[in-house]
Amino acid sequence: MASFSIDVLPSPALNHDTLLQYSARLKALRLRSLKGDTKSFISKYESEVGQPEDFWLARLRNDRAVHLILARDSTESSDLELLQKQWVGFVVIVAPSRGNVKHTGQRSSAEWEMSALYIEPDVRGQGLGKRLVEATIDYIGKHGFKDEGETPVCLTSVRHGNDSALGLYQKLGFFVIEPNEHIEKEGRSYLATQLRFDFQQMP
Ligand SMILES: CC(C)(COP(=O)(O)OP(=O)(O)OC[C@H]1O[C@@H](n2cnc3c(N)ncnc32)[C@H](O)[C@@H]1OP(=O)(O)O)[C@@H](O)C(=O)NCCC(=O)NCCS
Repeated sequence: MASFSIDVLPSPALNHDTLLQYSARLKALRLRSLKGDTKSFISKYESEVGQPEDFWLARLRNDRAVHLILARDSTESSDLELLQKQWVGFVVIVAPSRGNVKHTGQRSSAEWEMSALYIEPDVRGQGLGKRLVEATIDYIGKHGFKDEGETPVCLTSVRHGNDSALGLYQKLGFFVIEPNEHIEKEGRSYLATQLRFDFQQMP
């Protein structure tokens, strides 16, 4: 029976060859997500499919982006290297830029973002989306608290109509902060629901 692992994609990659393999794997998953779930995303398959290799490498080299990879493991070989496993989902976590840290009195809240969540259709409905979102919350909880009293929040946007993603996020503690967010992309406008997850202040 298959089991599944979630790994933080090593960044920087061990070497250039490994970086190229990570990039090819992520490109394949991302294009499948845009092609198969057109109405779930604001980005378009047609806009990304013809992009040069540098476009995909830049996403991996972005030092604010963290990729969590969901991979299928067989129980006998659960310590396989990430590239030896079959990748079946991912999510991108984007750390805040300095401009995304809001100050109120002595407190600062830093806006992290969760985006691009995708689970391959043949493994949906068995709790893996939930595990990836929980892993995102866990990652930010571990890395988002700073000595200067900075508390993280996690923002995400769900395109109107994508009720499975909206339900999943709300079930895991995200709450709606803007029910009708207007997003412009490549000359088109979209409506989305913007949500936020608040982290508890560490004791
Ligand atoms: C949204 C997505 C990530 C969910 O992944 P998943 O592995 O099927 O989700 P889970 O099995 O963890 O389900 C968790 C919850 O999601 C909701 N959910 C999942 N699939 C659903 C569906 N088809 N209809 C309604 N709700 C659904 C349920 O609330 C479920 O809770 P439950 O355990 O009480 O049933 C997956 O469907 C996907 O990749 N969709 C296409 C891409 C996408 O929409 N990404 C999000 C962009 S914001």
